[in-house]
Amino acid sequence: MAKIEIDDFLRLVRNRRSIRNFKPDPVPDELINKILEAARWAMSGANGQPWEFIVIKDPETKKKIGDLYAGYWKAIYAIETSRVQDLKHQGFTTLPTGIPGFANAPVIIAVCADPRTLIATVSIAYLCDGEGGPKATFLKNMANATFMLQLATAACGLASQWVSTDRSWMEKLKALLDVPDDLEIHTLVPIGYPAYKRPRPYRRKLKEIVHHEKYDRSKYRTEEDIVAYLRHLRETSRPAYKKPSGETWA
Ligand SMILES: Cc1cc2nc3c(=O)[nH]c(=O)nc-3n(C[C@H](O)[C@H](O)[C@H](O)COP(=O)(O)O)c2cc1C
Repeated sequence: MAKIEIDDFLRLVRNRRSIRNFKPDPVPDELINKILEAARWAMSGANGQPWEFIVIKDPETKKKIGDLYAGYWKAIYAIETSRVQDLKHQGFTTLPTGIPGFANAPVIIAVCADPRTLIATVSIAYLCDGEGGPKATFLKNMANATFMLQLATAACGLASQWVSTDRSWMEKLKALLDVPDDLEIHTLVPIGYPAYKRPRPYRRKLKEIVHHEKYDRSKYRTEEDIVAYLRHLRETSRPAYKKPSGETWA
């Protein structure tokens, strides 16, 4: 196997961006297949592999997904308005108009999850709540596949967004995509060529998050530190949710 240089890999990891609006240019099927192939190789607890993927290109279906999300967006906005102004999620500080930018992506992949695979995990997960129980293992598996998908997308020179689903619109989404009752839609991942550029988002420094041999208490954060961090984070990540026109999208 040809060796992948760590610096090339780090470049890929650092340059991947969540992008929330896409050019209409089509994405070749060959690249989509490579992206799906990467997701297939994600790690999962006891190799349970709970994932299945629906590749959506039909403009009508994408429009319907956008309409469903727009309703959900209003609900998120209504709840975010109750938060302290500078701690509100920056994607939902204004009431959206129209459908979200991601709905215009050339491709949306619905990352579906089969909770029946929970039984793959070791039985102790059912008896003890060590890692959050079997449901947590299942969600970690799904997050791995979703991230693998998005990293592979970046490796193809494409952009993507992680669109969280929610019980409040999942059933409608499942009906639209004819997903069987047993399965869930874990995430939607729109994919396309980016319609705009984003600076690198903020990441905590290595020296703040790495400890050697044991936890270095001098790095321990109080609740006040966490809130201060969140304020800083909100400030730095606000541009990520700004359209060039000044509106926001999710
Ligand atoms: C569990 C999880 C849920 C997320 N949900 C959303 C979402 O619903 N909408 C969205 O635009 N981005 C979502 N994101 C993307 C994060 O906002 C994004 O990764 C973070 O702001 C860092 O930016 P970056 O991806 O460009 O590094 C999610 C990411 C994760 C891991």
